[in-house]
Amino acid sequence: MTRLRLLTAGESHGRQLTAVLEGCPAGLTISTAQIDEDLGRRQGGYGRGARQTIESDRAEIMGGVRYGRTTGAPIALTVANRDADNWGDVLAVEAPDDPRSVAEPVLVPRPGHADLGGALLYDLHDIRDVIERASARETAARVACGAVAKLLLATVGCRVVSHVVAVGGERASALPLRLDDVERVEADPLRCADAAASARMRVAVDTAQEAGDTLGGVVEVLAFGYPPGVGSYVQGDRRLESALAAAVFTVPAIKGVEFGLGFAAAGLPGSQVQDALEHDADTGYVRRTDNAGGIEGGISTGEAIVVRAAMKPIATLRNPLRSVQMGTHQAVESRFERSDVCAVPAAGVVLEAVLALALADAALERFGGATVAELRAAVDAYRAHCLSR
Ligand SMILES: Cc1cc2nc3c(=O)[nH]c(=O)nc-3n(C[C@H](O)[C@H](O)[C@H](O)COP(=O)(O)O)c2cc1C
Repeated sequence: MTRLRLLTAGESHGRQLTAVLEGCPAGLTISTAQIDEDLGRRQGGYGRGARQTIESDRAEIMGGVRYGRTTGAPIALTVANRDADNWGDVLAVEAPDDPRSVAEPVLVPRPGHADLGGALLYDLHDIRDVIERASARETAARVACGAVAKLLLATVGCRVVSHVVAVGGERASALPLRLDDVERVEADPLRCADAAASARMRVAVDTAQEAGDTLGGVVEVLAFGYPPGVGSYVQGDRRLESALAAAVFTVPAIKGVEFGLGFAAAGLPGSQVQDALEHDADTGYVRRTDNAGGIEGGISTGEAIVVRAAMKPIATLRNPLRSVQMGTHQAVESRFERSDVCAVPAAGVVLEAVLALALADAALERFGGATVAELRAAVDAYRAHCLSR
């Protein structure tokens, strides 16, 4: 991100997560209710663990917003970790006076997590230091800032949504999602548009849970109404897919990304993949299909941007994997830390956030604007230019 800059800090069971989002234009109406709604959506979904019932996340804005509108200053916000109360002094900033009060160190790395790599990289004795920051709890701070990015995108007519298209081996029917479907998606426990597939997915989650196992899946994120003309073909790193793919891979457990038809395009003849062009006097150049996923030649086309991301199964297993105790090198069973069985619906909300931030950043780079009014005017002018050509 170049125009928008985001940093987060905080541990999973520390007092709070903290985020600073810099570069948001002035004059954006901020609704904390909308931020909290996305925080709540991130906590939901069939297959999540006990922690989500302990906490009901709320964002507190600490800077950059006055009387409900952004001022152009960095937006600072916090999300309290209500679970921190249950963790006593385990994450205390000051070392305890009595060394006997120091928490028992975690010495057994969990396979599939940052535990071993982090302990070696930062030369940490207690793997707790890794677990706390590598945890996907951090994504709550990014979901809060992503909600701000969504509000900004809404000012130029763009809406970012997501739905679950696969969990384990169960897939939803491949119908393209429309904005009309979103309410149904949000009402579904797996955030899936296909009710029959959702029922099969729930059975798969239950079966995995009974077996002490976990599941991953695939999420599709769509950005409707994103302005055309963002990104470029002139250098590889200016291609819009490049920024969006990088954003997708900032989310823990995401191992694959596709745009439009994605991997399926590789097995089809070109005649079934490219989107033919038409011209409509009212709307200008249109494509009746969107196999390209809203991006051609690295530039947004004005059609819906379609990104799919594959999430690996949750790494923490109730039936423990083999591991090795650090220091003694003794073969031991991995530890079980409270965990989700399937977090694919939640990952969809996180992916919406990181993609909204990347899309807002790219739009700001392209159209500029210290204020929302300037940004909107530049987007409107470009849309009019496209209609006139
Ligand atoms: C929303 C969300 C929730 C997650 N919840 C858990 C969880 O409860 N237990 C777990 O082991 N991993 C969970 N993960 C995945 C881990 O954070 C991730 O696999 C781990 O940090 C290792 O990173 P890597 O898979 O990218 O290598 C979650 C990921 C996301 C996006």
